[in-house]
Amino acid sequence: MTTSSSERGVSLGMPELPAPGYPDDVRARLEADAREVVARYPDSRSALLPLLHLVQAEEGHVTRTGMRFCADVLGLTTAEVTAVATFYTMYRRKPSGDYQVGVCTNTLCAVMGGDAIFEELQEHLGVGNGETTGDGKVTLEHIECNAACDYAPVVMVNWEFFDNQTPDSAKRLVDDLRAGRDVAPTRGARLCTFKETARILAGFPDERPGAVEEGGSAGAASLVGLRLAKGEAAPARVVHPRDGGPHDEQQDRTVHHPSPAEHLSSHDAPQDSSASDPAHPAGPVAEEGE
Ligand code: FES
Repeated sequence: MTTSSSERGVSLGMPELPAPGYPDDVRARLEADAREVVARYPDSRSALLPLLHLVQAEEGHVTRTGMRFCADVLGLTTAEVTAVATFYTMYRRKPSGDYQVGVCTNTLCAVMGGDAIFEELQEHLGVGNGETTGDGKVTLEHIECNAACDYAPVVMVNWEFFDNQTPDSAKRLVDDLRAGRDVAPTRGARLCTFKETARILAGFPDERPGAVEEGGSAGAASLVGLRLAKGEAAPARVVHPRDGGPHDEQQDRTVHHPSPAEHLSSHDAPQDSSASDPAHPAGPVAEEGE
């Protein structure tokens, strides 16, 4: 017979296991939700990602208790669940605010002003990366590319897009969030709290009246490729100014050199958006001509 390290009073410097369970009433409620989620998949372990969102919706972050719950429900080890929960950055590992404000500081957003936005927000809020304001409202973090480079620099709040931001518009945004004012993203439904967002990501319907219809659609800049594929008007071509003039010998045709104003994705400064310009209230983004 062997004795455990805890019986011998030996600390291995690792979290004590098992984690405490949820109170009975919370566990019963979560088990009912979990059964609904698991039933959507042919293999129960495939439900791990939405279940992690479910426990995140309960506590605002993924705790050891939440991971133990997921492991129990799915017949996995806590090590397996921990490996997944720590791999994906959408799962928070410590308490967070009602609004997770993510500033994209990946290459394109960074050069278009994302770095400046992140710096100014840290100073404005008095928090660093991954930290939460004292009122528990805003958690600030820098995030990687969110595939919205055509609207750089981008800020996300609870995974909703705020396009073409500036340091001033971003500061106005966090001030509005902390003051409890209604805030609408450039694209997508009006904001809800981080816990509410996590429950939607777990696969439960957004019950807010009209929220689904507010989902929006791809913006004009994102649809340029689609329009080209359909044979619609081609945007101006980007040609390096040192190419030696407007004549393309290979094609034997005149090449048009667009000015920055003509080129769809060129602009010298971040453009106004529904979020950055209070004079233009947010609404669903429609394709040109609609
Ligand atoms: S670099 Fe920011 S969205 Fe792609």
